[in-house]
Amino acid sequence: MERWAGRVAIVTGASSGIGAAIARTLALSAMKVVGVARREERVKELAAELRKEGAKGEIFPVQGDVTNESDIKRVMQWTKEKLGGADVLVNNAGVAPSCVLHRFRTENIRKIYETNVIALALFTRDFVQDLRARGVDDGHIFHINRFTKNSKWHNNVKLNFNVSSTAGQSIIHNRGIYPYSGSKHAVTVMTEGLRRELVELESKIRITSISPGLVRTEILEVTGLTPDIAKQTYDTLPCLETKDIADALVYALGTPPHVQIHEITIHPTGEDFRSLL
Ligand SMILES: NC(=O)c1ccc[n+]([C@@H]2O[C@H](COP(=O)([O-])OP(=O)(O)OC[C@H]3O[C@@H](n4cnc5c(N)ncnc54)[C@H](OP(=O)(O)O)[C@@H]3O)[C@@H](O)[C@H]2O)c1
Repeated sequence: MERWAGRVAIVTGASSGIGAAIARTLALSAMKVVGVARREERVKELAAELRKEGAKGEIFPVQGDVTNESDIKRVMQWTKEKLGGADVLVNNAGVAPSCVLHRFRTENIRKIYETNVIALALFTRDFVQDLRARGVDDGHIFHINRFTKNSKWHNNVKLNFNVSSTAGQSIIHNRGIYPYSGSKHAVTVMTEGLRRELVELESKIRITSISPGLVRTEILEVTGLTPDIAKQTYDTLPCLETKDIADALVYALGTPPHVQIHEITIHPTGEDFRSLL
């Protein structure tokens, strides 16, 4: 990771869960991290914590809603003006509201695709263009990819939980999750698509998709579960901690420039394979 010291990473969704852990880990690895989220105050708290801990790097909170293209452009511009431009982009911001296909709310399906797919594509496009305009040929893009819920009855409560494995490529039989699963299929295809385009451009920019199984974050509550059920889910099922995902990202980022880790799938040990269809 030494070669990344002092360099700049944009992390979307840095106010919570996996994004906050990635921002923290990169700042502890001496990187300058632009932490993007709508809840800027939470990123500011994280930045203050890191300063107190004496991190060699720093987190720069920038308020932004990734579903607004103008916010994406503003984040890119801010990063260029204040920090000279970004070298690493982590597309982590994501949402997973339940959408039953025969009666979903329009706003929910729009939110899924605008956040998980369109924002990721716009950020990635602007980032690659900026890298190329600045002549930076060792940039790295990360997509935090598959999250697919399956369902299981537990104590008479229908719990939602995610499975990893081929969730971004196979269709899991579970009402409410098809649009979300579809958004992650799109990310899988766009990851390989961009890799091919970069090869054609003879670029050394790398792209990595990280696909975790269940991770203990706030996503279940954001998705609509009560705090009690969300806690019960995490306490009942094998799950990963956010740091596990951040550590995987650091591994991929820290490999030599001729190595591209394309996909990292991370199961919590003991994750239920029977739910994988
Ligand atoms: N938790 C899991 O089990 C799991 C497993 C596999 C993959 N994932 C993926 O990991 C990523 C992070 O999820 P998480 O579990 O860490 O969830 P989380 O704790 O709910 O965090 C989601 C983050 O996304 C940000 N976000 C959402 N909409 C946004 C928007 N319009 N503009 C800017 N930021 C936005 C939120 O920030 P603000 O609300 O402050 O804007 C928050 O920081 C997602 O892509 C998810 O699909 C999660």
